[in-house]
Amino acid sequence: MNRKVTKAIFPVAGQGTRFLPATKSVPKEIMTLVDRPLIQYAIDEARAAGIKEFIFVTSRGKGALEDYFDTAPQLEASLEAKGKQDLLDVVRSTNMDSGAIAYIRQHQALGLGHAVWCARRLIGNEPFAVILPDDVIAADKPCLQQMVETYEEVGGCMVAAMEVPKEQASSYGVLDIKETMGPLMSVKGMVEKPKKGQEPSNMAVIGRYILTTDVLRSLNKKQAGAGGEIQLTDAIAREIQSLRPVYGYKFEGRRYDCGSKNGFLEATVAFGLNRPDLRDDFSKFIAGVQSGAPAE
Ligand code: UTP
Repeated sequence: MNRKVTKAIFPVAGQGTRFLPATKSVPKEIMTLVDRPLIQYAIDEARAAGIKEFIFVTSRGKGALEDYFDTAPQLEASLEAKGKQDLLDVVRSTNMDSGAIAYIRQHQALGLGHAVWCARRLIGNEPFAVILPDDVIAADKPCLQQMVETYEEVGGCMVAAMEVPKEQASSYGVLDIKETMGPLMSVKGMVEKPKKGQEPSNMAVIGRYILTTDVLRSLNKKQAGAGGEIQLTDAIAREIQSLRPVYGYKFEGRRYDCGSKNGFLEATVAFGLNRPDLRDDFSKFIAGVQSGAPAE
């Protein structure tokens, strides 16, 4: 069975209402963490994991996202003429190979499961990754790479998982765990946004998945779940019912929920402090804010 994962779906068709009014005109995925849009972090993580084909599920108003991946010959020429090699390198590092990116429209935001299903014809008959760009994961070894390496050994379907405080579990898809084998957990059930007190565990599903085409077939049913949306978690849970293996993978690293204001602010501080060119001044500023000193 083919366990090489070379395609990734990036569902970016959501409205990003938690960031209104910004998202009236700026796609959430283009919002900037330090100096790079969220989508760039997702692309870099995918590339590190060996992804060669990048499939974006977009919607109306996401033109800026498509433009971001165009080459910028005028900008490159002007940087070159000015001898700004470092900036030229930064810009060129974002260039994508011709034909490596495909865009598919999700005409109605019917849920994450539906967004993934919209890309079905581009997937063929091979396992594929799904990356939600608003989950940004800081890790020594990129999260998807950790998963792909394990996936090549075990196959099945795999979701990234992270421990969350039990009282927060109802905001996530949650794993019902059969057996834990180091970072790998075999899963006997998954519940999207369980009611409080009915969480099967405190292991939450985070926005990285490796899935098989069986999941796409299951999404054909277009069954609405929690919140009236077609949920990806439900389709993966049906794999378990069909006795096909599903694993949770407890990744090493820290996840920031950049789909929420708090998570975005936390990520901005963490990534800013991690940047050698910004760290010194930024950490002094933060220490000053904490001690109540007036900003200079
Ligand atoms: P969210 O639940 O964060 O929804 O979607 P959202 O619309 O992006 O943001 P809010 O909640 O209104 O602030 C999680 C991921 O699934 C994608 C989103 O683009 C995001 O990457 N998604 C969600 C779709 O592509 N289509 C959908 O119908 C729903």
